[in-house]
Amino acid sequence: MRTPLLEVTGVNKSFPGTHALKDVSFELLPGEIHALMGENGAGKSTLMHLLSGVYAPDSGEIRIDGHPVMLRSPRQAQAHGIGMVFQELSLAPGLSIAENVYPNRAPTRPGGTIAWGSLYRQTRELLAQFEIDVDPRTLVRDLNITTRQIVEIVKALSLDARMLLLDEPTSALPPNEVERLFDVLRRLKARGIGIVYISHRIPEVMAIADRVTILRDGQRVGTHPIGAVTPDDIIEQMVGRKIADLYPARADSFGQELLRVEGLSHERDFSGISFTLRRGEIVGVAGLMGARRSELLRALVGVNKTTSGTIAISGSPVRIQSPEHAFALGMAYLPEERKTDGLFLKMPLRQNISATALRDFARLGLMSARKEAAVTQAYVERLHIRTPGVNQLVGRLSGGNQQKVMLSKWLVRQPKILIIDEPTKGVDVGAKVEIHALLRELARQGAGILFVSSEFPEIIGLADRILVMVEGRLVGEIPAGQATEQNLMLLSSGYTAREPAAGG
Ligand SMILES: Nc1ncnc2c1ncn2[C@@H]1O[C@H](COP(=O)(O)OP(=O)(O)OP(=O)(O)O)[C@@H](O)[C@H]1O
Ligand SMILES: [Mg+2]
Repeated sequence: MRTPLLEVTGVNKSFPGTHALKDVSFELLPGEIHALMGENGAGKSTLMHLLSGVYAPDSGEIRIDGHPVMLRSPRQAQAHGIGMVFQELSLAPGLSIAENVYPNRAPTRPGGTIAWGSLYRQTRELLAQFEIDVDPRTLVRDLNITTRQIVEIVKALSLDARMLLLDEPTSALPPNEVERLFDVLRRLKARGIGIVYISHRIPEVMAIADRVTILRDGQRVGTHPIGAVTPDDIIEQMVGRKIADLYPARADSFGQELLRVEGLSHERDFSGISFTLRRGEIVGVAGLMGARRSELLRALVGVNKTTSGTIAISGSPVRIQSPEHAFALGMAYLPEERKTDGLFLKMPLRQNISATALRDFARLGLMSARKEAAVTQAYVERLHIRTPGVNQLVGRLSGGNQQKVMLSKWLVRQPKILIIDEPTKGVDVGAKVEIHALLRELARQGAGILFVSSEFPEIIGLADRILVMVEGRLVGEIPAGQATEQNLMLLSSGYTAREPAAGG
C-alpha cells in the first residue's frame, strides 16, 4: 500500500447556522486524480479550504505523508506541498504572467530590485514543462481563459507542490479547451502529484478521475474507483434520488414574434447577425471560444454599441442604450460573471432577490417585507438554495447557490424576453433540472428566452431552436431534434467555413 499523500479523518466544520462538514474522511494517493462531487453547498469548497489552511477544522485530523499536521494558514499548507486553485480565479489581469506566478517571491538582485531576466527565465521553464508557449511578459488580461486557468495551476505548482487542489477548474472553459487542461493534469499525475478535482461535470470526471468521493449535506456518502460507478450512480448519490428526465418537454407551438434582429454588426466582434425569437420559444446559441456569443448578448442589451443593424421588440424598432433601458423594454439580461455583475454580497438573500422587484414590493406597502420574504422563500425551496434562511448574506453562500440567487432575482420579475449567458454554470445536476424546468415554465407563460451555453448537451436538451456562431457570424440554425453533439461540434468549429474557396 502506498502511503497517502493526504489523509483526512473525521473532520467537522460549522458556520453559524450550517454544519458544513460532518465527520468527513478523505484520502489522496500519489499520482491520483481524486474527484470531489456533490450538490451546491454540499461542502466541497469548505473541505478544500480546510486542506489549504484557510479555515481550521472544528475537530478531526489531517495527515500529510502519514504525519498529523495543523494547517493554520495557506502559507503553512504550501510549506507542506499543497497547491490550490480556488473557485474564483485570482490572477491580477494587469500584471504579466511572470509577476503573477511569483508574487512577492520574484528573484531579486543585491539591493532588492527584481532580477527580471531570471524571473522570466524561471517562468518560461515552468510553462515549458506543460508545453505552454507564451511569453512570460504577456499580461494576464491578454490570455484566453484556458491559458489563464493553466497559469493559475503553474502558479500553484511554483512552490513545489506535491498535492494540487482544483475547485471547478473547467467551469469557465469551452468544451474544446478542456482537453488542454487535462493534458496538463495527466503530466502532473505522471510525476506523482496527487490532484483533488472538484467539478459538477460528470463526463469530465468519468474521463479524468481515478476515484470519486461524493458529499451530500456535508457528509461523505461514498468513495469509488471511477470504473465501478456509472454517471447515474453518481447523480443518485449526490442528490439522494433518481433523476428521470434531465430536460423538460419542449413547446409544440409558439406565439407572436418578440424580438427581431437584422444585420446586427459590431466593429470588431460580429457582423450581419439576423434572427428572431417568438413568445414561448427558447433559442440556444452554440459556439466555441472566440465565437463572440457573449459579445452578441451584450450588444443586444446595450452594454456594447453596435455599428449597424436593427433590433425590434414586438414589432417596434428600438435603440437600446443600456441594460436598464433594455429592462424597461421588458428584456432582462443575466451576464456570465454573476458575482461582479449584480449580486450584493454583503446584503441578505431576501434583498438580493427582490432588488429588481422593489417597485412591486413597494406597491404592497406595509406588506412588502413579509411578501418579500415569502417570495424569496419560494425560490429558496424551488431551486434548493442551501441557506440557513432568507436573511443570510449572499456572500456566505456557496458558489453555485449564489448563482441560483442571481437567477431567482430575474425570474421574480417575469421579463418578456430573458437573455442569459450560461444559465447553469457552476450549478449542480439537481438544481440544473429545476432551472431548466423554471425556464421552460417561463416560456410557457409567454416569455421568449435566448441563452448561450458552452455545454452542448444543455443546448440540445433545452432549446427549441439552435443558432450556431463561428467567429462573429451565424453559420447555421438547427431545429430542436436534429441537433447532435457531433453536428454542433462540426458546425461550431467552422467546418463549412473551411472548405477551399472556389477557384483557389
Ligand atoms: N464563510 C461562511 N459562512 C457561513 N456559511 C458558509 C461559509 N462558507 C460556506 N458556508 C456554508 O457551508 C456550506 C457548504 O459550502 P461550500 O462552499 O463548501 O459548498 P460547495 O460544495 O463548494 O458548493 P458549490 O458547488 O456551490 O460551490 C453551504 O451551506 C455554505 O452556505
Ligand atoms: Mg464550491
